[in-house]
Amino acid sequence: ELRGVVALDGPSGTGKSSAARRLAAGLGARYLDTGAMYRAVTLAVLRAGVDLADPAGVAKVARDAVLVQGTDPNRSTTFLDGEDVGTEIRGPEVTLAVSPVSAVPEVRAQLVAEQRRIIAEALAEAGGIVVEGRDIGTAVVPDAPLKVYLTADAEARAQRRAKQDSASGRQSTLDATLADVQRRDTYDSTRAVSPLRAAGDAVVLDTTSLDLAGTLAALMDLVGDHG
Ligand code: C5P
Repeated sequence: ELRGVVALDGPSGTGKSSAARRLAAGLGARYLDTGAMYRAVTLAVLRAGVDLADPAGVAKVARDAVLVQGTDPNRSTTFLDGEDVGTEIRGPEVTLAVSPVSAVPEVRAQLVAEQRRIIAEALAEAGGIVVEGRDIGTAVVPDAPLKVYLTADAEARAQRRAKQDSASGRQSTLDATLADVQRRDTYDSTRAVSPLRAAGDAVVLDTTSLDLAGTLAALMDLVGDHG
């Protein structure tokens, strides 16, 4: 059983989401996908037809959106204004627009506050939660007892993303996926507010040559060491 927060950060395609979900389920803990929250706000921005280069407009959409992010590791749900948007937020339109939206400081301030509220509630109810994102160890829960930063070669990450895309019926080529992964990494790691980076006290786990079972085993070891 997990007590407290496990912070899992890293770029996309490191196997972070699958591992985080399984880890939480295996430990009887809750699970928070913070990327889904940035994606849902991005979907709201696209639907509102607001220019991505207009931070005030983007911030207003974020304020007005009613976002409900579930914490069940076996069924992670995302509702936007009462509608289940779990599938739509994984689509190419949102993926293309999510980095500029999540670079807006007001958007981050609002979502970080909501994430802390969800985490506190989950800790009170279940005792433990696995939280995944880009800034969990550095900004959302800087005092988390265990922080893991997942990395992997860009090619390995693009291959994982392409596999996920085809498994969920989305067309993509490896070249386009690699370009997208690299574009998003660059954007996320160079933004002014809470850029993607490992916290000084994070354990760095390279998953280039690990499959899901291997990544999960490594994480379970780390949790055991910190128990
Ligand atoms: O994890 P996922 O790929 O769904 O995240 C989508 C995007 O949301 C990231 O590329 C990043 O721009 C943003 N994000 C963020 N901070 C987080 C989680 C996600 O900026 N904690």
